[in-house]
Amino acid sequence: MTTATTGTPTTRGSVGTPHTRVEGRDKVTGAARYAGEIPFAGLAHGWLVLSTVARGRVRAIETAPVLAMPGVLTVLHHENAPRVDSDFVGMLGSRPDPSLALFQNDRVPHLGWPVALVVAETPEQAREAAEALVVHYEQEPHDVAFFAGHPDAYPVEGHTPGVAEKGDLTAELAASAVVVDAEYTTPEEHHNPMEPHAAAARWDGGRLEVVDSNQGTTWVAGELAKLFSLDPDSVRVRSEHIGGGFGSKGVRAHQVGAVMAATVLQRPVRVVMTRRQMFTLAGYRSPTTQRLRLGADADGRLRALEHSCLNLTSTVHEFVEPGAAPARVMYDADAHHTANRVVRLDVPTPTWMRAPGEAPGSFALEAALDELAEKCGIDPIELRVRNEPERGPLSGLPFSSRNLLACFREGARRFGWPDRDPRPGLRRDGRWLLGTGTAAASFPSGAGPSTAALTAEPDGTFTVRIAASDIGTGARTALTLIAADALDVAPERVRVRIGDSDFGPAMIAGGSMGTRSWAWAVQIAVGELRERLALGSSVPPEGITVRSDTSAAIGALARKERHSFGAQFAEVAVDVTTGEVRVRRMLGVFAAGRVVNPLTARSQFVGGMIWGISMALHEEAVRDGATGGHVGADLAGYHVATHADVPLIEADWIDDPDPDDPVGIKGVGEIGIVGAAAAIANAVWHATGVRHRNLPIRPDRVLSAADGATHA
Ligand code: MOS
Repeated sequence: MTTATTGTPTTRGSVGTPHTRVEGRDKVTGAARYAGEIPFAGLAHGWLVLSTVARGRVRAIETAPVLAMPGVLTVLHHENAPRVDSDFVGMLGSRPDPSLALFQNDRVPHLGWPVALVVAETPEQAREAAEALVVHYEQEPHDVAFFAGHPDAYPVEGHTPGVAEKGDLTAELAASAVVVDAEYTTPEEHHNPMEPHAAAARWDGGRLEVVDSNQGTTWVAGELAKLFSLDPDSVRVRSEHIGGGFGSKGVRAHQVGAVMAATVLQRPVRVVMTRRQMFTLAGYRSPTTQRLRLGADADGRLRALEHSCLNLTSTVHEFVEPGAAPARVMYDADAHHTANRVVRLDVPTPTWMRAPGEAPGSFALEAALDELAEKCGIDPIELRVRNEPERGPLSGLPFSSRNLLACFREGARRFGWPDRDPRPGLRRDGRWLLGTGTAAASFPSGAGPSTAALTAEPDGTFTVRIAASDIGTGARTALTLIAADALDVAPERVRVRIGDSDFGPAMIAGGSMGTRSWAWAVQIAVGELRERLALGSSVPPEGITVRSDTSAAIGALARKERHSFGAQFAEVAVDVTTGEVRVRRMLGVFAAGRVVNPLTARSQFVGGMIWGISMALHEEAVRDGATGGHVGADLAGYHVATHADVPLIEADWIDDPDPDDPVGIKGVGEIGIVGAAAAIANAVWHATGVRHRNLPIRPDRVLSAADGATHA
């Protein structure tokens, strides 16, 4: 037996120091295995067959010819698939999208709806057979047309995220010296993580084991247990390495199909989505139409603020993209009206996608603020200074901390903002018109209950076990640094094991809450271990293990407006003869809590900002009204920003520790995209004098605006 020492309770300074990913070597050498490539003895392969009509019923499925094809083991569909129960409330407090209840009836509510799963000995045989499967449909007329003022739009229920109002909007608009009234649109956008969704399921000694790529093993295990009416302890979900999620990697058709087939065949079955299938099976960001009405006194002080956002959802499940939410935190006004509305169409259900609500909402809100600044003849940063609220504009709650203006001050200094001539359309570099723009960013800072186990090993090392999920954020490394500092040991003495639902309940990697929630559990576990060791316990061969649970601590948090903030700056060059827009440089300065690992935190901010470029200039999923499906549902047809589109991007932060978090964390996963597209659109206005209120700012839109200006 040895005695564990954790040293004196002072910080060693791992937190706050750049640290490469602890699993980085495994990832770059290929040793890290992903869900689609982990070997199983006797593995069979399932291939999903998706509907080719946008609405109707499955009339018949010709399974016999396919069952006779080489290697085919079974074809599951609505007449023979195991029954599931989708009428429950899951870990995140909501009902699941009934799209998960695969093959339970003959209804087809959108194009790309799963109608069958073909299972074969090899993926090639499964794909061949799936493509040969003939499905007969009874087709009904469909409607996928999304537009502002849709007659079937309805307000979302509940104060958050539905409708929130104070003051007399009409009166305040009438009394305003300056009014902005504008419509903005954002298109349907897709997550496109590098790693496609993949899951393998098998029964092992009465337990269901699923190897998956997801944002929360506790969450997925819980949903699968409820769907298949299993004892939660009899389901184990593992997800060790994840090649991106962005909100799309929850419970989806592939896990459910794999479990069904593994149950029917009593052998391991894997289902992988193709890139094209991900466009209908993995969720997406709803398009939005947004109306902004801002009314201000001549000095820019807001009297009226109206932000209403319309998004779409499917006919089977309501999902809200709450674009009107950021206005409730950012700016006060005597009359303050915000509303999220939704319309049901014959499309797949949208889902969370990096900064849901804030990403599209901040585009419209922050672009409208820029228009107001122009009309008032006030610098856009000064306009925000004049409208900086003391408390939550609608909640009346104090902010846990709000360092928005400090971000603007630091960003303006570094970006060279004070030298900017506010007049548009004046700067040239050869054929390029140049402009700069800015926008504010915010994102909620929360935490979800989590548990962790911490073991003092007899060799003087420590093992953390927590059902955390590192979707590429660097969470595993952040938790290593946090545990090391709390234990007062070097990070090399800490091993963090994640991605296994058997480690106990934990928060998902979502809502920018993952690392914060898990760090809290690790911090409490270290405290408990220190107490045990302080009592003089020596470490037996099996180690000393303590467990922590943050439910009580999180439940006791005082009510405050808890958000991260940031200031985005962009410089663009616009060629009005070709319509090309290039971003030349970007700077984001954030107040987003204590930064655990500057290397990976910067990567999160910069990644979000790059997505902002992509959102501003490239991304747009186009739906064809005639078929109800996408045009070009792949990475050739769906454009994303790539290396050549991404210039020098700088992200930095100011000191902003959360006063109520044991580590000071607020969360950095999502705020980087917020406001980024608005800063770029505002810069395009500054370059050209033309407001682009519809994303993306495509060459044809720049050209038709330039034509309009010429012929006007
Ligand atoms: Mo994120 S959209 O909370 O994965």
